[in-house]
Amino acid sequence: MQSMLDLIQKRRSCRTFTEQPAFSDDITNILKAGLWAPTSKNSRPCEFIVVGDRAKIEQLAKCKPHGAAFLAGAPLAIVVLADPHKSDVWIEDCSIAATLMQMTAEDLGLGSTWIQVRLRNYDDTLAAAAYIRQLLNVPEYLEIASILAIGYKGKERLPNTEESLLWEKVRRV
Ligand SMILES: Cc1cc2nc3c(=O)[nH]c(=O)nc-3n(C[C@H](O)[C@H](O)[C@H](O)COP(=O)(O)O)c2cc1C
Repeated sequence: MQSMLDLIQKRRSCRTFTEQPAFSDDITNILKAGLWAPTSKNSRPCEFIVVGDRAKIEQLAKCKPHGAAFLAGAPLAIVVLADPHKSDVWIEDCSIAATLMQMTAEDLGLGSTWIQVRLRNYDDTLAAAAYIRQLLNVPEYLEIASILAIGYKGKERLPNTEESLLWEKVRRV
């Protein structure tokens, strides 16, 4: 069994996927990680949209000009959203949920990458979130934080190394 630290060291963003779809039980377990994630004041503002439809995923991959195109080759996307009226720190809540889902995917032998949506633009006139809202019929009360691309790894990447640790970022007082 891998320790949590082994998993954290091993996890690298995966942007190339095989065609094989994720098992439904694995998707359920990834969603459990998101739903069990801690939230400020236990306000639980996060919601998730699971997208397995190839045509919809290809459309999602066009949500911004940079950093999302690879999603077209992923068998699964999970959109991470929240109701900002439920929590003033919904961004933090969504980030924790997304991270725990990524770690659970890694634990299940799946690769993933976070695609930033909040503060990103589709083009000069439309926010990436507005484009996704139209595409997936997202209700107005929800803000869109990110998308996770998930699938079996098409390429295994090297794990993080001891040399890459920026120990100078740590102060002990
Ligand atoms: C908040 C956040 C936003 C990110 N946005 C994107 C993105 O839009 N597209 C992408 O391909 N990767 C994105 N990433 C993945 C990072 O590029 C990646 O985690 C970083 O380069 C470190 O590489 P690693 O995950 O392989 O260790 C994002 C990661 C985080 C934490």
